[in-house]
Amino acid sequence: MESKMELEFWMGIFPMNLYQGFWCPLLEPTMSFQTHFQAHDTDVILASLPKTGTTWLKSLLFAIVNRNRFTNICQHPLRNQNAHELVLQLEAKVYNNIQGSQPDFIDLPLPRLFATHIPYLSLPKSMKISKSKVIYVCRNPLDTFVSSWHFYRQLKVNMGLKHFFSQLTITMGFKHFYRQLKVITGFFHFYRQFKVNMIDEDFVKFCEGKFPYGPYEDHVLGYWKESIQNSEKVLFMEYEGLKEDPVAHVKKLAEFVGYQFSEQEEKEGIIDDIIKLCSLESLKEMEVNKSGNFYGFFENKAFFRKGEVGDWSNYLNPSMVKSFDEIVQDRFKDSGFSF
Ligand code: A3P
Repeated sequence: MESKMELEFWMGIFPMNLYQGFWCPLLEPTMSFQTHFQAHDTDVILASLPKTGTTWLKSLLFAIVNRNRFTNICQHPLRNQNAHELVLQLEAKVYNNIQGSQPDFIDLPLPRLFATHIPYLSLPKSMKISKSKVIYVCRNPLDTFVSSWHFYRQLKVNMGLKHFFSQLTITMGFKHFYRQLKVITGFFHFYRQFKVNMIDEDFVKFCEGKFPYGPYEDHVLGYWKESIQNSEKVLFMEYEGLKEDPVAHVKKLAEFVGYQFSEQEEKEGIIDDIIKLCSLESLKEMEVNKSGNFYGFFENKAFFRKGEVGDWSNYLNPSMVKSFDEIVQDRFKDSGFSF
């Protein structure tokens, strides 16, 4: 590991190292994933920046490739397991805290479905040289920022409250006066350390590319370019397009991973069933997504908010958007890519 690595904190609290040109929140698991992961030709890997529709795409992919295993939609695994448990995030789950031993994928059904947030250039070599398929989902950067801001703000508040209540519990047995004092100190500590940042401070960092797996343009352009040069390997999808025409996008997705729908399936309405099952409204109402959590610290419900296109206009003022245009749009100028 390099000794002097640049360090930044997303929303003032979540640490990230500058690694291979991107802001990496999980350095050791990422390195372990890069070193040890062996892709199979039949693997399907979903790649995305956080908050761009990962949960949605995981649900759709799982439902598409496993539709012959789970024909009864009423008893589908997505009804009692969160999509992040069904399609594992490689750096955040599979290679996190493995302490020496390598993950064993023996029980995973084929095709193996995985997900990653790391940029294309940093993917393990075996993923690039195998015939495995990569699906990338991209979302409007301003909506991505707003979604990220809500998600991490909630995480931050939860962490802060946990800290505050642990202070409260520790002091319960002490004398009354001392207890009051500790509670007040705990509150100030909570406020100082976990205070909710102003959205514009975080937006400046986002524009500078200093957010998990950013910069935005490097991430998007890395996968976009590969999808043009190697269209058999990488499918580039847009969150907004999927919202606008889910049937066409789901068909394209199924075809790309080699699980195209037959005419008979189309007639039977299987595509619509899958779209309905994986819709925000449906997943949000499932008990597992209302109350469960995964990886020990993310609440499942935090992954289902509004899912609206253009929600950024409720949070960002014209001068913020203008500075975004000047900084970020400019970097896309000569790429040929537009959003
Ligand atoms: P908002 O915060 O804008 O509502 P990710 O899964 O990458 O963390 O992205 C989360 C974003 O996708 C959130 O956006 C969330 O509401 C939205 N989302 C989650 N499930 C969805 C679904 N089934 N359909 C559409 N959007 C979904």
